[in-house]
Amino acid sequence: MKNRSVTVSAPGKIHLLGEHSVVYGKPALLTAINKRLTVTLSPSKTNTGFTLEGQEKTIAAFQNVIEETIKDMYKLKTIPPYTAFVSSNIPLGYGLGSSAALSAAATAALLTFLDIPWDEKSVFNISYLGEKHFHGNPSGGDLATVIEGGLLYFRKEFEFLKSFSPLPFATTIENFLIIDSGKPTESTKEMVAKVGDLEKNFPKQIAEIFNKQEVLTKQLVLAFKESDEQNVMTILKQGEENLEKLGVVSKKSQGIIRSIEKLGGASKISGAGGYQNGSGMLLAYHSDPEVIYKFAKINNLNVEKIQIEKTGLRQENI
Ligand code: PMV
Repeated sequence: MKNRSVTVSAPGKIHLLGEHSVVYGKPALLTAINKRLTVTLSPSKTNTGFTLEGQEKTIAAFQNVIEETIKDMYKLKTIPPYTAFVSSNIPLGYGLGSSAALSAAATAALLTFLDIPWDEKSVFNISYLGEKHFHGNPSGGDLATVIEGGLLYFRKEFEFLKSFSPLPFATTIENFLIIDSGKPTESTKEMVAKVGDLEKNFPKQIAEIFNKQEVLTKQLVLAFKESDEQNVMTILKQGEENLEKLGVVSKKSQGIIRSIEKLGGASKISGAGGYQNGSGMLLAYHSDPEVIYKFAKINNLNVEKIQIEKTGLRQENI
């Protein structure tokens, strides 16, 4: 056991395309973004667990899952007491990967504290079980992205085989903005279940939408590789159309997205979405970002530029 503090951080992520269909074995294109969550874990006389303002309950349950998994995997009887602080500029519950970043960073910090050597794969395997506890049926795409960093092509072939490839393109596609459409009232778990019900009731129609998302995701990889801005926008628009058919985009968000399209840009939800009120952070692209900044200002919407973050999970001290 380490007798000093351990700090590990992980970035947030966005789904460029493939959210929801990725749960059903289709590919997703994701990227880590320049927002980070940091876990600092220190030895302590009493075990206070993880502290993050306003989230104590979730984190206590989460701590339990991660600890039990580590104990089981490494044949440990107990885990010495510790205290852990979580700080983050990834907004919680907006589809930007806060939960994946927390799972990965907490797992790596705890393993370091226990003097257990870890690599990306072992952190993925442990934190995936944590994600499963909260999300029911996650693809693992979020986790792979925040651990790996950069642009990633992800696919869950089977529960026991999740494959991904980092895409080291020197793309010039970089005018990405995020627009706050409001925090979804629904959790990722509820949104995944909503699509699950749809898939059960209308298997043919939904399979068709998933197939279309697969084709579009592959086209998007090529458009990125070729830095074909116009094509990126066309594909994002078509991808959004399909997500709307899955019922994961609220009327309010659809309104924002249509306005951006009319201004010559493209926009879509990124992640699980939300259908009652907000759908989380919308991804928006325009060859002239000023157009979107202006639109956001007039409509009183928060907008922010984001960048691809190359570094995934990172130990901040050795
Ligand atoms: O909204 P987020 O960041 O939880 O992303 C969820 C993405 C889904 O495809 C809807 C679920 C998953 O596990 O991939």
